[in-house]
Amino acid sequence: MDHSFDVVIIGSGPGGYVCAIRCAQLGLKTAVVERWPTFGGTCLNVGCIPSKALLESSELFHRAEVEFSKHGIEVAPKLHLSKMLKRKEKIVASNTRGVSGLFKKNGVTAFHGLGRISGSGQVTVTPAEGETVVLSGKHIVIATGSEASSIPGVEIDGERVISSTEALELSEVPETLAVIGAGVIGMEMGSVWNRLGSKVTVFEYMERLFPFADEDISKQALKSFKRQKFKFHLGVAVQRTELVDDGVKVVYVTRGSDEEQEFIADKVLVSVGRRPNTDGLGAGEAGVALDPRGRVEIDDHFRTNVSGIYAIGDVVKGPMLAHKAEEEGIAVAELIAGKPGHVNYDAIPNVIYTAPEIASVGKTEEELKKAGVAYNSGQFPFLANGRAKAMEAKEGFVKLLSDATTDRILGVHMIGPYVGEMIAEMTLAMEFGATAEDVARTCHPHPTLTEVVREAALDAVGRVIHF
Ligand code: FAD
Ligand code: NAI
Repeated sequence: MDHSFDVVIIGSGPGGYVCAIRCAQLGLKTAVVERWPTFGGTCLNVGCIPSKALLESSELFHRAEVEFSKHGIEVAPKLHLSKMLKRKEKIVASNTRGVSGLFKKNGVTAFHGLGRISGSGQVTVTPAEGETVVLSGKHIVIATGSEASSIPGVEIDGERVISSTEALELSEVPETLAVIGAGVIGMEMGSVWNRLGSKVTVFEYMERLFPFADEDISKQALKSFKRQKFKFHLGVAVQRTELVDDGVKVVYVTRGSDEEQEFIADKVLVSVGRRPNTDGLGAGEAGVALDPRGRVEIDDHFRTNVSGIYAIGDVVKGPMLAHKAEEEGIAVAELIAGKPGHVNYDAIPNVIYTAPEIASVGKTEEELKKAGVAYNSGQFPFLANGRAKAMEAKEGFVKLLSDATTDRILGVHMIGPYVGEMIAEMTLAMEFGATAEDVARTCHPHPTLTEVVREAALDAVGRVIHF
């Protein structure tokens, strides 16, 4: 077999596999190297897809338990956890097989094994079993993703102190679950187990949930989660965890105080962020520069400091999101093929799949204030929307921020039903440089949740109709 390629991609997550397909479409002879037995990376195996499968199942259970009766339907749902987990596994298997099929269809050659940059234009693939293979590539793309990180004093043992990976496959519902970090994983996976019956207590270093989100959204989210019986300790620093009898002790202090407090839970989910993964990659030996946070350093064209080596996705700067990795995968393939590949980082949407859902694109109000940008703000609640009332989904709102001078949309922040679907309209609007007036004058179907977006735009231009 000829082992020389135009492009060798290390890692088959959303960054790597999408990059491979686009390279092949562009006529480049492409190889992908993946250390795991299945393709699709964190996202398909232990991230986006399995978490969304469980969020969907647990949400249905929760609705049957507490919401059906509002519609005049009386049921007593019974949880069959192993069946729920099997459904998730089937979805994961079908998706990862799908990537394998896409490789075959597009003529991408896939290798299983740890990929290490072992020389100029050279990647050595060491499989768990079998022979080592040396590939040569005119271009090498590092797409090795990220891994769960922890904090000093908290060791993830995978049993009682767990990361998101184990939180996707608990065989029993823990009676009590402590979550360290009120970010995306903490609140998504916390929601799954809360809905299935766990008592969930969240410990967060900052004074608010989702520190990166627009503050109004964080405040509404806190109210909604408290209504769902989550308990919160905000503004606390977890010092350490200790294994005790059948549980785990979480030792924490309120920030600014030395007094240690304790909380005991059956399991502790550590969700304090993820770290770029360059383990075993040979980046150092190859002279590839990393930044102080361990991310592969790149320029505006995804080039590292070593000629012919590029990097994309979670292993580089920017939000750790599957669709961001995909965009970068496509852009770098196009650049390698001599085309003008580009990613618009101002229009990368963000979705948190809790109930209510949370979605955003563009700048937050705090960011605009800090940058001294004059803006208009329009807001509209789901409470005043006919479809939301019919759905018993009245919590939340849409907030639209537009430039006070040009009226161009600068940011949109949503919390409410299906906003993860609705944010695509606003992402497209921002890609096209739309104004609030453009959205306010666009006919939206009635009765739909999307009317809330239009009303928020109408509010931004001072002409809200239904509130
Ligand atoms: P990864 O998906 O991490 O893939 C990297 C791949 O490289 C892995 O398969 C790894 O095995 C392989 N690899 C690493 N080193 C080597 C090596 N030396 N040799 C060979 N192979 C190697 N994002 C969203 O946008 N939406 C979501 O809903 C969402 N939900 C998430 C839920 C959870 C629980 C988690 C943990 C993450 C979630 N994310 C979500 C984030 C998303 O999974 C990542 O942003 C995305 O997977 C990054 O893609 P990537 O291709 O950069 O890296
Ligand atoms: P995160 O960055 O979203 O949240 C981490 C939280 O932990 C922050 O609120 C932070 O203030 C807090 N924290 C940090 N140190 C702490 C300490 N010592 N004590 C208490 N709190 C502490 O990280 P998370 O949730 O681990 O997720 C990692 C990444 O995975 C996300 O940033 C996101 O990019 C991606 N992801 C995306 C999803 C989506 O798009 N729906 C779903 C899940 C993950």
